[in-house]
Amino acid sequence: MSSPAEAWDRLVPPAPAEVPALSARGVHKHYVGGDGGRIRVLDGVDLDVNRGESVSIIGQSGTGKSTLLHVLGALDRPEAGQVRVGGQEVGKLSEDALAYLRNRSVGFVFQFHHLLREFTALENVMMPQQIAGTSPRAARDRARELLESVGLGSRLDHTPARLSGGEQQRVAVARALANRPLVLLADEPSGNLDPETSERLHDLLFGVSEEQGAAMVLVTHDLGLAARAGRVLRLHGGHLVLARPDAAGPEPAE
Ligand SMILES: Nc1ncnc2c1ncn2[C@@H]1O[C@H](COP(=O)(O)OP(=O)(O)OP(=O)(O)O)[C@@H](O)[C@H]1O
Ligand SMILES: [Mg+2]
Repeated sequence: MSSPAEAWDRLVPPAPAEVPALSARGVHKHYVGGDGGRIRVLDGVDLDVNRGESVSIIGQSGTGKSTLLHVLGALDRPEAGQVRVGGQEVGKLSEDALAYLRNRSVGFVFQFHHLLREFTALENVMMPQQIAGTSPRAARDRARELLESVGLGSRLDHTPARLSGGEQQRVAVARALANRPLVLLADEPSGNLDPETSERLHDLLFGVSEEQGAAMVLVTHDLGLAARAGRVLRLHGGHLVLARPDAAGPEPAE
């Protein structure tokens, strides 16, 4: 039997260095409303994010930011358009390959974190690593290190019910970083946190993006935080538009 790493490489070959870590072209997504009408949320979104680059997305409530992150993270399929993670077109992958891709290449910090309730903080952060084939000992060491870096070294054995909302969110951030993802997607990662803890968490996310060469897309209503990213984009009318003309990086295609 091949190792999980070999199986992964067979299903989804390693990302070539020259392609964007994350790429979206002409992404369309709509929902069906209560009256049966169409709610057009994403209406041709284009985006390229390179390794080590960070992009923030701002926009009014209900414009589709979370929807976009779900599509970029291969958690949801668009009706039209393509999403590529590490050069792989996610719409063409089998369910198995897609599961590998999400586990190995995408770190997702949800707007409303989804921790496993029956497991401790440590186990929640170990889980994605074990799915990826990391040994229990190595997974435990990394989980401990990550939880310490988000200030939860003394809460390793707490289940989510015995953690505050902000602590749960920090566990979710540690979990998203566990497999050193190529693409890091964070949806209001510090929604519940006090300013000091938020600051530490943001430093961690930007540090990881730069040092590990992850492509980060950060959704936030906090304009100060948004401005820390290399590019600030606004989701408006189903499109991404450059929100800060002086921001580094190429202008997004309309
Ligand atoms: N499963 C669904 N079925 C129908 N409509 C949905 C569904 N999920 C989201 N919507 C609608 O799609 C639109 C975009 O929702 P989304 O959660 O992406 O917005 P958002 O920009 O993340 O908002 P917020 O800033 O409040 O988090 C909203 O109008 C919402 O009501
Ligand atoms: Mg949202």
